[in-house]
Order: sequence, then structure tokens, then C-alpha cells
Amino acid sequence: MAQDQRYGNQGFGYIDGEFVPMSEMRLPVTDLGFQLSDMCYDALHIHKGRYFRMNDHLDRFENAVAERRYETLGMGRNGFAEVLMGCASRSGLRESMVTIAATRGVPDSGHKDLRSCQNRLMAWAVPYYSVVSDAEMRDGCDIVVAETLRIPPEAVDPRIKNYGRLDFVAAMFEAYEKEARYAVLLDGEGNVTEGRGWNIFALREGRLISPDEGVLEGITRRTVVELADRLNIQAQLVTLPVEDLRRAEEIFLTSTAGGIVPVRSIDGEDVGEGGPGPVTQRLAEMYWDLHEDDAYSTPIDYAA
Ligand SMILES: Cc1ncc(COP(=O)(O)O)c(C=O)c1O
Repeated sequence: MAQDQRYGNQGFGYIDGEFVPMSEMRLPVTDLGFQLSDMCYDALHIHKGRYFRMNDHLDRFENAVAERRYETLGMGRNGFAEVLMGCASRSGLRESMVTIAATRGVPDSGHKDLRSCQNRLMAWAVPYYSVVSDAEMRDGCDIVVAETLRIPPEAVDPRIKNYGRLDFVAAMFEAYEKEARYAVLLDGEGNVTEGRGWNIFALREGRLISPDEGVLEGITRRTVVELADRLNIQAQLVTLPVEDLRRAEEIFLTSTAGGIVPVRSIDGEDVGEGGPGPVTQRLAEMYWDLHEDDAYSTPIDYAA
């Protein structure tokens, strides 16, 4: 692959008060965002030149910044929106994944008093990508149930979107060893949580179920619940025991990076007929149609 095609080499970013090409985005190794995973972020996408559910992403990010006590970022919600628009318009990308992140910053001494840090804000818009490949998007992806457990919410609140992800990393290596590429993690009670970058839904006896606890409250998950209502399909956020996931008629993943992603097999066993099911396909069509709806998307002024 040509060097400039690699993830992260194309696009435009913002860091330390300046908009810069992706190739110039740098974070000091002394930033506690790197050293302690003391950071939070949100990920949005742009489709056909419009941000999808920008205000909902900003609500979630603003809440994360407050929960993490990043009080010295020097800007609030309006500033975050301007940074997102600035990265998008400068990138020129009509199809893009955009990340906005805050880190604790660099402390004033090796004692690393968290209160001495100047918090840092950054964002970057890169060409659109999905959590799975194009073929997996079409045919469905293979997942395994990991033995590694999701970090419990009592230790790290998963509703604050963050890069402290060593549970996902261990689980993904479990998947690679089983010739799969994706792993779903359980909590300590045998209930399903989520995977790296996605929530999960099971269709059981005509009802959609997605875990309610120990997970990020995904914007795509919320969109699916709203769309299911339009289809008169009951969608519930409740405890999902792993046995119920294994008996599902359809399974799909939900993520801003990909939308609604069909699951073809779980631990080597076919889900339903082993391809994308009809409910999954219908929801995916409706999901992408929503992107042209003014109530759900915000146009980007590329001339700005
Ligand atoms: C751990 C985790 N769960 C779920 C999701 C899906 O959230 P959303 O639909 O808001 O993209 C993500 C997105 O990156 C994630 O990182």
C-alpha cells in the first residue's frame, strides 16, 4: 500500500490551537493521555458532506470532558463544533471519520500532579473507514466470544468513550488465534457487553436486544432503537446472556465506523442462514437513508 494511503496519512487535524495536515499531528510522549490513558474522545462520521447526529456526539463528548474534569481546555461546546467543522472543511472529505479527543496534558513535574496539567484538545478528519472490511460488510463477519472480560464499569465507566482498551486488545488476539477477526466480551456474570468499536444486537423471537450495562451508549445503537420503532419491531436495552446471543436468529454490530454490520458466525457456528438477515438488511438501508434527513445531519460548508 502506498505510504499516503495508510490510515492516518490523509486528512486534516487540529491540535494545540492550530489546524494542520494529518502528517503534522503530534502528541508529546509526556502527555498523560498517552501515559495513563487519561483521555476521552468521540468519533463521528461525515456522509455525503454532512455530519451525522453531530449534536448527539457533542452531547456525549461534552459529558465525557466534564466527567474527566478537563477544565483547562480553553473551549466548550461551541469551540468543539468549530473545530469539527474546521477539520472537515479543510480536509475536503465528503466521506470521513472524524475524531475529537481531550487529554489530561503534560504535568509540570515528574510528580505528575493531575491538577498541574494544561488539558489538550485535538481532532482529526480522515477518509471514511469501517470496523470491518467491504466483504465482511456484504457477507457478514465472524466473531468469537472472548475469555477476556470487559473492564467492569465500576472500575472504568465505559460510557466515557476512551482509549484504555487493553481488554479489547487481548480479546482480539484470542479471535486471531481462532481465525476470526472480531471478539465480543462478556462481563463477570456471563452477559454480553460489546467489542472494540461496536455495540451488538441479537434478534430473538422477533425482538431486538442489546446490552444495557457495561457498554458505551452508542449513537448507532440509539439510531437502531429509533428505526426499529418505525418498523414496529420491539427493541430493548436489557441484559443479554451469552446463551441468548448464541441462539439469535440474526446478530449485527453497530458503530459509527460502518453503521450496521451483519454477523455471519459466532464461535464458528452459523447465525441464522449464515448471511445478513432480512431485519439487519432493512435496518442498514434505513440507517443510511437517514443521513439525508435534515433532522439527523448537518451540512458542512467546504468553502468556509
Ligand atoms: C467500545 C465501543 N462501543 C460501542 C461503540 C459504538 O458507538 P457509536 O455507535 O456511537 O459509534 C464504539 C464506537 O467506537 C466503541 O468504541
